[in-house]
Parts: sequence; C-alpha cells; structure tokens
Amino acid sequence: MATAVISNPDPDRFVYDPFAPDVMRDPFPYYKVLREKYPVYRLDQYDAWAIARYEDILKILTDPQAHLTTTEGTLISPSIMRRHNSGKVPRPRLNPIDMFPNLPSPYYEQIRQAAIGPLRPFAVSQLEGFIRDRVQKRLEELIERGRFNATVDFGGYVSSGVACRLAGLPLSEAPRLLELVNRSTTRNPEQGGPSAEFQHTTAQLVAMLADLVRSRRKAGADGSNKMVDGLLRVEIEGRRMTDEEIAAHLIVIMVGATETLPKVVAAGLLELWRNPRQRAEVIADLPTNVPIAFEEMLRFGAPAQWFSRTVIDHPYTIRGHTLMPGHRLIILFASANRDERVFEHADRFIWNRKMEGHLAFGYGMHFCVGVHVARLEGRIMLEELLRRIPDYEIDEANARRVISDFQLGWMQVPLIVR
Ligand code: HEM
Repeated sequence: MATAVISNPDPDRFVYDPFAPDVMRDPFPYYKVLREKYPVYRLDQYDAWAIARYEDILKILTDPQAHLTTTEGTLISPSIMRRHNSGKVPRPRLNPIDMFPNLPSPYYEQIRQAAIGPLRPFAVSQLEGFIRDRVQKRLEELIERGRFNATVDFGGYVSSGVACRLAGLPLSEAPRLLELVNRSTTRNPEQGGPSAEFQHTTAQLVAMLADLVRSRRKAGADGSNKMVDGLLRVEIEGRRMTDEEIAAHLIVIMVGATETLPKVVAAGLLELWRNPRQRAEVIADLPTNVPIAFEEMLRFGAPAQWFSRTVIDHPYTIRGHTLMPGHRLIILFASANRDERVFEHADRFIWNRKMEGHLAFGYGMHFCVGVHVARLEGRIMLEELLRRIPDYEIDEANARRVISDFQLGWMQVPLIVR
C-alpha cells in the first residue's frame, strides 16, 4: 500500500517532503524555511539530504572532496529512494547501457560529447533563420485564432520543431513528439515520481527514435546527421550500441529540448502581463532587453525543481552534517534561484535585476547541454511575440500549473490577442 506523504510549512513543526501533494503544488514557502532554518535537511525516509542554499549547492557540485555519482539517476524516483543503500551504490549498467546522465566517466563524457554536435554554439547560431521562420508563421496562425495556450500551442509547437531539427526527425513528427514528451513527463499528483503514463509513452518515444537510428545506420552514418551518427560511432567496451540504447540517450535530449523552455516562456509572458510597467520597458527596445529579461524568467520560473546525486566512497561534511556514502542529495536548484542571500527581493520578478548568475541550467558536470539553443529560442519567441502582440492579455483565471515534484510550471497560459 502507498505510504502517506506528508509535509508542514510551519517553521516550528516543519516537515518537508518533495513528493507531498502540498509541496508539489507550491514548494516555495518550504524552500524559504529550508534556506533559513534547515539548509541541509535530512529526509530519513529517502536516505537523502535536501540542499537549499545557492552557496552550498555551488560548493557541493564543485568540491573535489565531494564524491558524487549519478548511477541511481539524476532524478531518482521516490520508489528507488525508499530503498536505503547501506553504503553501497548500484554499479553503472553498461549492457544494455543506461542513459548517459546516469553513467560514470569515461562513458558519460564519451556519449555526451558524441551527441552534442548540433548543440554547440556555432551550430546553434545557424538555426536562427529556421527558428524565426517557425515562430513567425506560428504566430500568424495563432493571431488568427485570437486566443491560444502560450505554453503548448506556441512554446511547445516551436520547441518540438527545433528538437526534431536537432535530431534529424521530420518536422511532421513534431506534434507527436510534443504529445509524447508532455504525457511521459507528467508526475503522480498524490505520491510524486513518474505517473502511470510514463512506461507506455516512453516505449513509444523509444520506438520513434529507434526508427530514426535504424534509418541512419542503414544510410551509413556518414556524419550528415551529427547527433545520431555521432552516437552510432561510439564504442563502449568494444561494442557499438543498439538502436534502442541510442534511442534512450536521444530521449534525454528530446525531453530537455521539448519540455522546459515553453514553460519558461509562458511563465515569463505571465509575469510581464502582471507587471505592465515592466512589459513596456522590455518592449521599448526588444533586441537589447529581451535577452536580459529572459535570464530573469529563467531564474524566476525555470520549472525543474531539483536534480539528484548519490554520495560515494567517502563521507562529506557540510554545515556540521555528515553525508555518508549511499546517501542521496536532492539539489534544490529552484530554491537556490530564490536565495535572498544572492538575489535581492528574490521572490519578485524584476526584468533587469542585477544578477551574477542563476542556477536554472544547473552547475558543474551535468550543466545543461541545451543552454545555447534554449537561449536562442527563448529570445526569438519573446522578441517576435512581443513585437506582434505587444498588448496581449492573459486569462489568468484559466491558467493552470502542473502538480509535480520535478517540472513545476505553467502548462496552460491562455493568451488573448488584442
Ligand atoms: C530553458 C530551458 C532549459 C532549462 C531551464 C534546462 C535546465 C537543465 C538543468 C537544470 C540541467 C542540469 C541537470 C543536472 O544537474 O542533473 C539540465 C541538463 C540537461 N539538459 Fe537542459 N534545460 C533547458 C533546455 C534544454 C534543451 C533545449 C535541451 C536539449 C536541446 C536540454 C537538454 C539537457 C540534457 C540532455 C541535460 C543532461 C545533461 C547531463 O546530464 O550531462 N535542456 N537542463
């Protein structure tokens, strides 16, 4: 039987559980208490520690004394976390090989490097014309409709098309990719972790991407599709990977490329609508101001709440707490981005705030591979939308957030064309 997952934001009777329904609906009051009173917070039930402050996250992800692994995943599900490790951490799975973020060196670097050709800065800069064209054409269609969901109809449409282009899938597959990604990433609203949809939608994604890999293998993998051909050439312990293994690596990239950015853009449009003066200031000089405003949208509204790591080999002490081998870390990037020690009035959206840097794309070894394409796409979407519909309205009463322990954010932002 499922265990009740409880939480309580009262600082004196505080209980934080990332999978509690109350936390999944609105984790920010919990993050505030964690940062103030319990910056390194023990979750016995998951053999884990939540790390809430910006400074501590930076330290832990870069300190050579902190030996961390991702063999349990960078997003460990609650069912796995409930099994204590007793010091030992599962060994990496090499046959069939696990998806690359879960692998240790040198396999992790080998596969990541082989896949990211189209995500490097120069390759991404070549996508500007394609993205602008897709955004402009889509906006014409949506303006005709008069009302649309900024997250899915606009952001999702653009980002799924860009994802197809990066992997070499036909653009006609973009709607199916978007639908499968959005369904596969929904979370269980009562218990957290993957929803009942996860397994069969992931299987459909594997099938779709394995078809692509098969066709590139048949074509001789001559390098004309940088991402898939790059992966086809990788040898792990003397063997090439199967179509399905490569498809699993591609899923990580396709999900990243399709899921996150639309929520950031839609949340950003909502904040600009709530703050008309800020909207007017951004619109006054779009090419200069949009890239600045987009960084604040990332800090304020990036949907990924946390990623995980597992301590290996040596105990690690931080703020008087000793993290033992086998313990998991719940690294609360979203909390760090609201840390008052780093960002003045952290809970306020201020489009041109002074900012050294946010953690919306993570930090250190697993830093987001899609950072350049996300920034380019975000900039173009916002520039074009604010140029074409500067006085848009939002039907806030019908805006909906997802309930999720992971990718929280606005899944439905009804935008009205004026
Ligand atoms: C605004 C948009 C985006 C945000 C906020 C975002 C955020 C993040 C974060 C926080 C991580 C770190 C995970 C960790 O520490 O374990 C990450 C990793 C990753 N992101 Fe993104 N991402 C975005 C867009 C993209 C795009 C466009 C792509 C692909 C084209 C992508 C692909 C990935 C992949 C594959 C990883 C795993 C990297 C690794 O483990 O080495 N992301 N992303």
